[in-house]
Amino acid sequence: MSTNKTSAKIVLLPGDGIGPEVAAEAELLIADMAGKHGFNLDMRTKLIGGAAIDATGNPLPDEALAACREADAVVLGAVGGPKWSDPDAEVRPEQGLLKIRKELGLYANLRPVRLHPKLAGASPLKPEYLEGVDMMVVRELTGGSYFGDKQEGDDFASDTCTYSRQEIERVVVMAGNIARARSGKLAMIDKANVMATSRLWRKVTGEVMTKQFPDVSCEYILVDAAAMYLISNPARFDVIVTENMFGDILTDEASMLAGSMGMLPSASLGDGGFGLYEPIHGSAPDIAGQGLANPFGMLASVAMMFDYSLGMQAAAHSIENAISACISADECTPDLGGSLTTSEAGAAVRARINDD
Ligand code: NAD
Ligand code: IPM
Ligand code: MN
Repeated sequence: MSTNKTSAKIVLLPGDGIGPEVAAEAELLIADMAGKHGFNLDMRTKLIGGAAIDATGNPLPDEALAACREADAVVLGAVGGPKWSDPDAEVRPEQGLLKIRKELGLYANLRPVRLHPKLAGASPLKPEYLEGVDMMVVRELTGGSYFGDKQEGDDFASDTCTYSRQEIERVVVMAGNIARARSGKLAMIDKANVMATSRLWRKVTGEVMTKQFPDVSCEYILVDAAAMYLISNPARFDVIVTENMFGDILTDEASMLAGSMGMLPSASLGDGGFGLYEPIHGSAPDIAGQGLANPFGMLASVAMMFDYSLGMQAAAHSIENAISACISADECTPDLGGSLTTSEAGAAVRARINDD
């Protein structure tokens, strides 16, 4: 996407719960990669989420957003937690996350789902159902019911789901290009039998595919059935494009095809090389502070950053290979059947890269 950089400006947003635990491993990995690949690194840590609310009252302080606008890439841990989850709260950590995505124009969230063969046993699915799992979910990230008008009262509440033609077109074009570079197979997932927005998605997707991607096949699947196919025949999917909330839900489901919530990385992209990189999991309050968090989804997100925002594909591959080698050698956290702590698993990845 962008050319190889001799310097990189990166903003780190650790957030809450296990966010800072996995972000600490990302920080160490990025620093090591700068030494190994010889680029100048300007890495700054800023506040987001509950930590930002506690310090400033604002889940995304202006100063943090301004730093992100100046950066080549942003690396984010996770936000949220029980401390800030009162339904009557005026501000919520998640508002910071939604704001940064919207403000930076990051309309496409790429969530690759791949199974390391060693992890078939970590998935609750029978191994024969997991054969050939390797897909890319392209989730629309700045539209739909997340961002439509909301009303909230004691006796009535509403969330409005809206999509414009332009919002659909740009993410479908991104998914079409990804599908063209992979198997030439796209699946668009919607609820066109009920939702007006889904019917617009279907119409616009059909037009974009016919005009711009006649070489890419496109099938349309209703989201309820798609949720079932993800379990019954996940290998039928290659590239999926879908609206914001369906993409959120389906990728947590799909994470179990890869063995753990802690495995899935993501890249949030707009037009241009800038991106925000975060694992798909949340702040995991149930395991926070215990060294149990799997850092691989975070570190694989760093690999995506080297690939998409820094134009350093060799660096990206070396991180992916190191994670894969760690899994093969059982150097992993308990969710994958290993016995390493978060920081030991992060160190194991760095050790394999440094030994290269
Ligand atoms: P979660 O993703 O935090 O956790 C779901 C389950 O997966 C938990 O059992 C957790 O222990 C496990 N898990 C998650 N990440 C893991 C990892 N790296 N290693 C091992 N196990 C892992 O979802 P939740 O509990 O529904 O949400 C907790 C909070 O996180 C909420 O406040 C939610 O809003 C927030 N959240 C934030 C993000 C984000 O910042 N991008 C994403 C999802 C949820
Ligand atoms: C994610 C999260 C967020 C989302 C929440 C925390 C707002 O679940 O990044 O997947 O729904 O987008
Ligand atoms: Mn989610």
